[in-house]
Amino acid sequence: MKSWRLDDARQTLVLAAKRERLAEVVYWGPPLPASDDPDALAAADMLDVTGGMLDENPDLSICPEAVRTFPGQPGLIIRGPGGTSILPKFCYAFETVEKNALTLTYRDEDNKLTYTAYFSLDPDTHVLTARSVIDTDSPVHLHWLSAPVMPGAQHSDEMIDVSGRWCGEFQLNHIPWTPGARFRENRTGRTGHEHFPGLIVTSRGTTNTQGEAWAFHYGWSGGHRMVAEELPDGRRQVQFGHATGLTSEPATKFETAPLYMTYSSTGLNGCAVAFQRHTRDRIVDWSGAKNPRPVHYNCWEAVYFDHQPEVLKDIASQAAALGAERFVLDDGWFGTRDDDTRALSDWEVDPRKFPDGLTPLIDHIHGLGMSFGIWFEPEMINPDSDLYRLHPDWAMGGEDQVLGRYQMALDMSKPQVRDHIFECMAAILAAHDIDYIKWDHNRVLPYPDQSQTHGSYALIDRLRDAFPKVEIESCASGGGRIDFGILSRTHRVWLSDSNDALERLPMQHNAALFLPAAVTGSHVGPRISHTSGRHLDIRVRAWVAAQRHMGFEMDPRELDEEETEVLTRVTRWWKDNRDWMLAADILRLESSDASVVAEQHQSRDGARFVAFVGKRDTSDQIAPRPLRMTGLDPDALYSIDLANRDDVVRLSRGQVALKDGPIKLSGRYLMAKGLALPWSYPGTIWVVEGQRL
Ligand code: GLA
Repeated sequence: MKSWRLDDARQTLVLAAKRERLAEVVYWGPPLPASDDPDALAAADMLDVTGGMLDENPDLSICPEAVRTFPGQPGLIIRGPGGTSILPKFCYAFETVEKNALTLTYRDEDNKLTYTAYFSLDPDTHVLTARSVIDTDSPVHLHWLSAPVMPGAQHSDEMIDVSGRWCGEFQLNHIPWTPGARFRENRTGRTGHEHFPGLIVTSRGTTNTQGEAWAFHYGWSGGHRMVAEELPDGRRQVQFGHATGLTSEPATKFETAPLYMTYSSTGLNGCAVAFQRHTRDRIVDWSGAKNPRPVHYNCWEAVYFDHQPEVLKDIASQAAALGAERFVLDDGWFGTRDDDTRALSDWEVDPRKFPDGLTPLIDHIHGLGMSFGIWFEPEMINPDSDLYRLHPDWAMGGEDQVLGRYQMALDMSKPQVRDHIFECMAAILAAHDIDYIKWDHNRVLPYPDQSQTHGSYALIDRLRDAFPKVEIESCASGGGRIDFGILSRTHRVWLSDSNDALERLPMQHNAALFLPAAVTGSHVGPRISHTSGRHLDIRVRAWVAAQRHMGFEMDPRELDEEETEVLTRVTRWWKDNRDWMLAADILRLESSDASVVAEQHQSRDGARFVAFVGKRDTSDQIAPRPLRMTGLDPDALYSIDLANRDDVVRLSRGQVALKDGPIKLSGRYLMAKGLALPWSYPGTIWVVEGQRL
């Protein structure tokens, strides 16, 4: 028996192997005492066999092998160059054991294959990272390679995975475990709205604030496959890898993206905090990025393609007066881009719209104290574009393909395509003082191909090297490209094209299972939402944006006096609080009222928090139910105040203590009984500030 163990303050991972066979994860859960002997754990992990079974349960290893009678999905499916199926059978070769990291290498001599599994545990963020690599002596075809396969707890009743759509990102699905597989495969070639690569396995009764959870995120932007399978013997396995068949050519090396994981015994929030901190403190490269994070203004919903320098200057001046610190010029500034049918890939400033170039606009914006950002959609091309007329062969896919938003994808695997796009973008960035790119990707690929994703990554990396002070926002019709792979090269994600604050509330809330506030863009939309038609008060629009990296996207010329006053005030509040808030943990609260979405942003030292309590709809009961806080020091006293007390309406007629001023309550009371809030209209939000005394 061989065994290995990784530990941090919240979890223990134990791997063990019989003789020379592939390792199995025999334990992943709360920290075990050091006295627990891994060999004994491995022995204890053996399940009994009875009638109708093999004489021994096949290993549920980190790469389950079909040839060892594994009854479920194997961890690796490959074929020889001629198409013959290869059945790998690995034997231990060597290992590298470091503090908090482990590499296990196995060899299949008959088939000339090497399998390597990498594990590392970050003791500060509590995120476990694992990936696998296959090396071969001669080229083979890869169909499927899973990152190291993890067990699913048998005492779990359900798993939560994430789906979505345009303007409806980050919807959670609660799926019961049943015999067979929950199988999700994203074949769109981008991370996509439809299948966010995340999964949380929970034990019975787990909520946001309590219970066990095992969370997974696959950090890759080219489409993934997830298998969560229950075997006939009752064991469960979780596999994540690239979508199948992403490589058309045989090769001698294949690797998965990193699979990020964490175990929590403090509910979904334990996972959320680990992923939020890991994204913010480990994944995103903030060097060169603006700090403090500036308030954005994005002109898309104000002017769309109608770019008139004088109008844009006026809008910029008004946005600056409201508190914006960065102006992002969206789609419409290049080629003959008068609508979305043309000119993508013609990255030259449109002289009809900007006869003197962009510089006068940029100078004006800088004169207002704002920095300047610009929109690109680098991987795309309209058939109606100069580049397409010159190089139709640079587009990916057949001529008869179905277009998406009138566009095709450029073939990013071609170096000449990447060089050309790099040069166009570099020319714009070099000629102007630009510190931000909104990088869009508005259609799915005509077919999935990982060389496209590698090509995109290479282009971004090259631009980041050449322009280290230029930040990037990842957008794909809103949240269609959000994952740790893209976030390791970018600084912000455009969560959704919906600026409807009531739609945003649950999206932001669910995305917080994986994303910190610092990377999540959220903008104040127009009075009447352009994507839902909903009419929303400025207060809820402003406060919902203030929950994340704040910005504006409405036309400031539509604001009346009251709206201007509210927005200016909330923006000032955000600036006063952003330093600690963007480094805070977002804790999802367990609301007892189904119409309420509430979360508590808590500073790392626990000394302060702000809770945003959004009421999406009319409640069933008359008076608001007390809202229970979480993660407080039970013995400490907190001063609690309403940041937006002025929003109390006439129909709130009772004696709610908070209406008169701050109150003092213990952490225990706030967590056990909860906070009574004033009655409010649907479509409103309370902002509760707390300070430990
Ligand atoms: C996508 C983005 C929008 C906007 C448009 C521009 O839809 O999600 O925010 O940038 O493209 O065409």
